Amino acid sequence: MGSFTLATVPVATEDPLYRLMREYREDSHEKKIDLGIGAYRDEDGKPWVLPVVKRAEDLLRENPQSNHEYLPIRGLDTFLSAAQRLMLGIESKAICDNRVCSFQTVSGTGAVHLGATFISRFHSGNVQPTVFISDPTWPNHHQIFTQTGFVVEKYPYYSATSKGLNVEDMLQCLRTAPRGSTVILQGCAHNPTGIDPSQEEWKRITEVVREREHFPFFDCAYQGFASGDLEQDAWACRYFIEQGFECCIAQSFAKNLGLYGERVGAFHFICAPGSDASELAERIGSQLAIMQRAEISNPPAYGAQIASAVLNDNELFSQWQSELKIMSGRLTGIRQEIKSQLEVRGTPGNWGFLSTQVGMFSYTGLSRRQILELKEKWHIYMTENGRISVAGLNPGNLQYFIDAVDDVLRALP
Ligand SMILES: Cc1ncc(COP(=O)(O)O)c(C=O)c1O
Repeated sequence: MGSFTLATVPVATEDPLYRLMREYREDSHEKKIDLGIGAYRDEDGKPWVLPVVKRAEDLLRENPQSNHEYLPIRGLDTFLSAAQRLMLGIESKAICDNRVCSFQTVSGTGAVHLGATFISRFHSGNVQPTVFISDPTWPNHHQIFTQTGFVVEKYPYYSATSKGLNVEDMLQCLRTAPRGSTVILQGCAHNPTGIDPSQEEWKRITEVVREREHFPFFDCAYQGFASGDLEQDAWACRYFIEQGFECCIAQSFAKNLGLYGERVGAFHFICAPGSDASELAERIGSQLAIMQRAEISNPPAYGAQIASAVLNDNELFSQWQSELKIMSGRLTGIRQEIKSQLEVRGTPGNWGFLSTQVGMFSYTGLSRRQILELKEKWHIYMTENGRISVAGLNPGNLQYFIDAVDDVLRALP
């Protein structure tokens, strides 16, 4: 008899998002719409390889020095220093002080995982670490932090009544959270709600995090998608760092460079200012290197080389900025369009939130029954929490979507 049997290996539930993607693929209806996956689609509903990425790929291909050698454990240096500057700012004091430790990771997921592994191993105190994540959040936060040994708690975030941020309850929860908890904060374009705190609200969050000595862990998967401006979208992270917090950041280039499958990301640990800050950053780096070596040995090279080419060349960088504006502008336009069409129809509900939410997603507030009906009757696929990836809509399918939502909301109020 083997060591592993049906009795010892239970069936795990399929990841709901990937199940949805599979159901969509298997659906043969000609008008089906995929609003599940958080990936940008162009006006024709097709994946968009950014022209700047194609240019960078051409440069790599033409470069006689290009090869497929292993990267160092930390990753590609030119990519890492540019990724730091992009997130922290070119004049970042933390970078000048040498108190930032950065590792290239397997996209944003790998960065969150590396950070979680580090914190769970080195947090002070001998109790199990506690992490607070927003309710709702990217579902993988639950899995990553559970698997790395955290007690996972939620803080209120979304108000179903106002369809906006529930900031008072969020702050109250963080005030009563065990001192020194890790708090996951999405830097911008919150997934799944599309609702970000205002600068004033971020300042209030900072105060509570400081008061309770929590550890801020920024997850930044959408820099450039909220406002179309890379600098503006990094405001919250930079504000915390300027306030002297120690914190860490998971950074992804999946969405903003459209490098989804190439798995390009970075993890940054920023030590608080102090005389031993740069020595501490170095030590943290030495531990992260062991973890990275055990997990992936060294990160994938190709996507990082593309990102590095774009980030380190002025001309390519400004082309990228324009292309980001195209993507975020299209999403804003679609939101506006859904809102005005539903309003013109008199579809039951208040649709103002569609134009105040930002980024790739909109949190519709549709009920489970309505979501199921949209899938079964209309072949429109969205996640069970009512999130739609706005990028899945375009002039070719928008009318069909509006017809469907109007029908379902009237039939199943
Ligand atoms: C909030 C958040 N964090 C992290 C990620 C990780 O994405 P990736 O691993 O593709 O970079 C995502 C992707 O959807 C996300 O929405």
